[in-house]
Amino acid sequence: MKIKPFELERFFAKYEFNTPYLLSCSDCEAFTLNKLLKMADDETKNLWHNLKLSYTESSGHPLLKQEIAKFHTSILPDEINVLVPEEGIFIAMNCILENGDHVISTFPGYQSLYEIANTIGCKVSGWEPVKQNNWFFDVEKLASLIRPETKLIVINFPHNPTGAIINHKQQLGIIELCREKNILLFSDEMYRFLEYNEKDRLPSASDLYENAISLFGLSKSFALPGLRIGWLVSKNKKLMDEIARFKDYTTICNNAPGEILAIIALRNRSNIFRRNLEIIKRNLAVLDSFFLKYSNYFSWNKSNAGSIAFPEFLGNIGIDEFCKRLIEKEGVMILPSSVYNYPGNHFRIGFGRKNMPEALERVEQYLNEKFYNEK
Ligand SMILES: Cc1ncc(COP(=O)(O)O)c(C=O)c1O
Repeated sequence: MKIKPFELERFFAKYEFNTPYLLSCSDCEAFTLNKLLKMADDETKNLWHNLKLSYTESSGHPLLKQEIAKFHTSILPDEINVLVPEEGIFIAMNCILENGDHVISTFPGYQSLYEIANTIGCKVSGWEPVKQNNWFFDVEKLASLIRPETKLIVINFPHNPTGAIINHKQQLGIIELCREKNILLFSDEMYRFLEYNEKDRLPSASDLYENAISLFGLSKSFALPGLRIGWLVSKNKKLMDEIARFKDYTTICNNAPGEILAIIALRNRSNIFRRNLEIIKRNLAVLDSFFLKYSNYFSWNKSNAGSIAFPEFLGNIGIDEFCKRLIEKEGVMILPSSVYNYPGNHFRIGFGRKNMPEALERVEQYLNEKFYNEK
């Protein structure tokens, strides 16, 4: 299988571990192992201390699947497969799609959500938001992209990179379209539970539609990306069985320590989400003032959920050059829209980490110094 480079991941590979200030990460401030273990109850403490590092149950630890089912109104533990989030995308796309199928995906987006389909030989149409309308995803526009050979619609809300969400009526509209035309729905819900207003939180698509498959996990809302634990959920048994069989060729089963730590995290979900939202909201207030002060340089389309947004740089150099100079002169990494293959001078900013204000001060310093005027 020959697949195009994952531009965003290559950019991170180049800069993430040698740039002092990361201003575009999508995860929240990661917990230390110590802090997470302090949240353990008697049962999970016992599981942790007596953990044997053997192979684990392929679809996930039974207690972990029980905890995951609590995020849902109608999903049973048997309808869950625990895996690495990115692996979930890879496996699901490979199980669902064949050469010649048509796929519609939210765009811009996390590249694997449409690139694996491209590689399989599918035709992919991007469902793009209206930028001028605060990244509004219009369901009528989505309907107009559907073709007789459309096999799959891929959505990602809260959305990477814009932080946009849709409302429940729009979500039901998408499901109605899928049901009417017998289309599968892949719903990437990695940023769920980071809605700034709780009332904006959508039900998981897998609870609403029998041919939806939802992806969620610990990497974003839980601030535990290093555990490499996520899960796919669907009532479509045939598809979930195929996914289980495909996984025998990727990881077979999950890492044993990660599963126990995941159970601890899920049992403390409310406190973890609250802590992450506090960091995000504090940072967003700082960003609001920053973008107001520097409105000559930036157009700020505020996000509605999640830990990232996609503002536009209005300065006199291109976005790639702006990002390069910030890295070189100030040691601050932001992601240019070119890694999303999206035109214009947008960039992804991340605000789930505690040192965001410090990184922003560096940007401010850069804007106020001569570098900006350098050619
Ligand atoms: C929308 C979306 N889906 C899936 C993933 C994959 O998660 P992970 O990197 O933990 O495998 C990411 C990671 O950035 C993401 O932003």
